[in-house]
Amino acid sequence: MLGLGVLALLPFAAAKAVLPRQTACNNSPDLCSKSYSEITHLGAHDSPFVRDASTGYNSAGNQYYNTTLQLDAGVRMVSAQVHKENNEWHLCHSVCEIMDAGKLSTWLSEIKSWLDDNPNEVVTVLLVNSDGASASELHSEFQAANIIDYAYKPAQTSAPSSWPTLQKMIDDGTRLVTFVASLETNTVAPYLMDEFTYVWENNYEVTTPGNFSCAPDRPSSVKGNLATALSSNRMFLMNHFLYQTSILDIQSPNATYVGTTNAPSGGAGNLGDAATKCKESYGQQPNFILVDFFDKGPAIETVDNLNGVSSATGRRKLSSSTQESSASTYSNVFKGLVELVQSAKEGANPSMGEWVWVGGDWGSLLGGGISM
Ligand SMILES: *[C@@H]1O[C@H](CO)[C@@H](O)[C@H](O)[C@H]1NC(C)=O
Ligand SMILES: *[C@@H]1O[C@H](CO)[C@@H](O)[C@H](O)[C@H]1NC(C)=O
Ligand SMILES: *[C@@H]1O[C@H](CO)[C@@H](O)[C@H](O)[C@H]1NC(C)=O
Repeated sequence: MLGLGVLALLPFAAAKAVLPRQTACNNSPDLCSKSYSEITHLGAHDSPFVRDASTGYNSAGNQYYNTTLQLDAGVRMVSAQVHKENNEWHLCHSVCEIMDAGKLSTWLSEIKSWLDDNPNEVVTVLLVNSDGASASELHSEFQAANIIDYAYKPAQTSAPSSWPTLQKMIDDGTRLVTFVASLETNTVAPYLMDEFTYVWENNYEVTTPGNFSCAPDRPSSVKGNLATALSSNRMFLMNHFLYQTSILDIQSPNATYVGTTNAPSGGAGNLGDAATKCKESYGQQPNFILVDFFDKGPAIETVDNLNGVSSATGRRKLSSSTQESSASTYSNVFKGLVELVQSAKEGANPSMGEWVWVGGDWGSLLGGGISM
């Protein structure tokens, strides 16, 4: 009887074993049934600001690979700053004189193409609205990129207690989540979500590896108060990038230490330990981790660990990281700076982004503190 029972079970077990592996969502079949807010998404900080041959290794760049390659390699959140330049909406680093990565609509088209090519992936765009574009102005850029069909529309205009699963978003074809920091009124484009209504962040102006913090910093309504941040249902965006202050008090990404900053363990300020610490203090893993030079570390290892993903599929392995030309590093900062100071002296009034990359004392600088 016993033998027969085992035999009877066999075909069932065998049939189960040969079922095709479920399609992956965001590089893993294990993530399909997870909700959007239950997993950690790797974010490329200042995604379109690239330090590669196409920009002459501009030291204002925060990434070695462009947005398409970032997404190919597993990045699922891309952030950028939007500035008004000659009556167009451009992606610029602090000021367009330093680095202008072209039109917002062009970049959105690049993301649209990637979504077309990768039907099982959910991508988040975070726009820093540096010059206060209105919802309808941003909407026009999304329309021009023909990307609106992919846009996820939230069910409510406040932070929900739960988000849909990746599989649901994929099935619905709404695989683009868009946050804007910040958007005051928005009646025309419900898919454009005011970032700080849905998300809170830790601090980001860190210049020493010992100073990474898990404490809420923005929005001001949750600053310094973890309990309030958690009970607000907002998701947590963990900034984890290190600045260096160099010539003329200008802050730029610390590229020499990034191997440690983005590492899964070992060394002061490493991402793995910082993420574990934040997870312990919140009782849940960070929703987004935003890094510079995402391929270093590699940062995705920490994200995979948090997500319990051990064998990710469908990721492109990038060729060994672009070597920046150290000779060009400072001269490119200087070039941008010289042009900026000159334009200011000629009467232009450069606008500063919210997401300040150039953290120096611009008042004294532009007021004649240096001579060029
Ligand atoms: C991204 O970079 C790769 C490698 O440099 C290049 O071949 C590709 O054209 C770039 N893609 C875009 C959209 O710029
Ligand atoms: C590190 O953080 C401490 C406490 O907030 C602050 O006093 C100090 O200035 C910071 N150090 C640097 C180098 O930013
Ligand atoms: C980058 O950070 C490391 C670690 O704090 C530091 O030793 C190094 O001097 C920094 N680089 C620059 C150029 O500030």
